[in-house]
Amino acid sequence: MLDIVRTVATLRDQVDEWRRAGQRIALVPTMGALHAGHLSLVHQGRETCDRVVATIFVNPAQFGPSEDFATYPRGEADDVTKLEAAGVDLLFAPDVGEMYPENFATNVTVSGITDCLCGLSRPGFFDGVATVVSKLLLQALPDVAVFGDKDYQQLLVIRRVVRDLNIPVDIIGAPTVREQDGLALSSRNAYLGTAERQQAAALFRSLGTAAENIETGRGEPEAETAAALQRLTESGFTKIDYFELRDAETLAPAVNLQRPSRLFAAAWLGATRLIDNVSVAARAIPN
Ligand code: PAJ
Repeated sequence: MLDIVRTVATLRDQVDEWRRAGQRIALVPTMGALHAGHLSLVHQGRETCDRVVATIFVNPAQFGPSEDFATYPRGEADDVTKLEAAGVDLLFAPDVGEMYPENFATNVTVSGITDCLCGLSRPGFFDGVATVVSKLLLQALPDVAVFGDKDYQQLLVIRRVVRDLNIPVDIIGAPTVREQDGLALSSRNAYLGTAERQQAAALFRSLGTAAENIETGRGEPEAETAAALQRLTESGFTKIDYFELRDAETLAPAVNLQRPSRLFAAAWLGATRLIDNVSVAARAIPN
């Protein structure tokens, strides 16, 4: 049976008890509206740990004033059914007052890797993420915490926080789970109308085509990016926040294609913003 706890104190008590019994604990933070991508993180946690704790908290601190905090899909009962079926032992679902008590005044800011991509198009977003994830890690003190490659810049930000603040946890990155047509699963896909849902697959297709051409040397980043932007516009995307090739480790613009890099895209279909990314293998060094 899945236990649901709402306070940090009860979360800590339960985790302490497992730890004293010599068990390893995995943490899977989410904002709910769960789909198979989230559940893949649970399975990943199960592989290396005895217990999996999931969290559901729609974190107001990571939404901008004109973003979708109020309308973000919420459905705890459905989520609980899914978590239970996936073998989660404990759900931590605090309310806003438990996470941000009155006079909350601390902010975790990561510089450098947040100066690009979603850091530019969503000011304040990564502060909100870094702060809430730091709190969740320190509240639960798990052995491992699992995050998706789908939000690759977020994953790098979290790795950096954990390293810089010496939080004793292993961060595991898990591959992106996709629909049959390639669209990355996302809670925000629920916003898409029928026509938009069909158009949405162009995001992954464009990333895939550009990545393959760059990897094989058939195309150069600049031309491939320009072609992808055009394809996305033709496919119905109304605004493109970015479509960029960056170093997979530092997120600096990828100039040296002999290092692993990654193509990142964020684009809008009407009122819905979608993000995705794919890896671009290092080109072989010519003889
Ligand atoms: P949320 O968007 O709910 O995502 C929770 C976790 O699921 C993140 O680690 C995300 O990368 C992962 N995820 C989402 N879609 C995925 C997919 N298609 N395949 C694999 N993994 C996927 O990301 C957040 O919430 C929040 O920012 C959070 C980290 C919980 C902090 O509030």
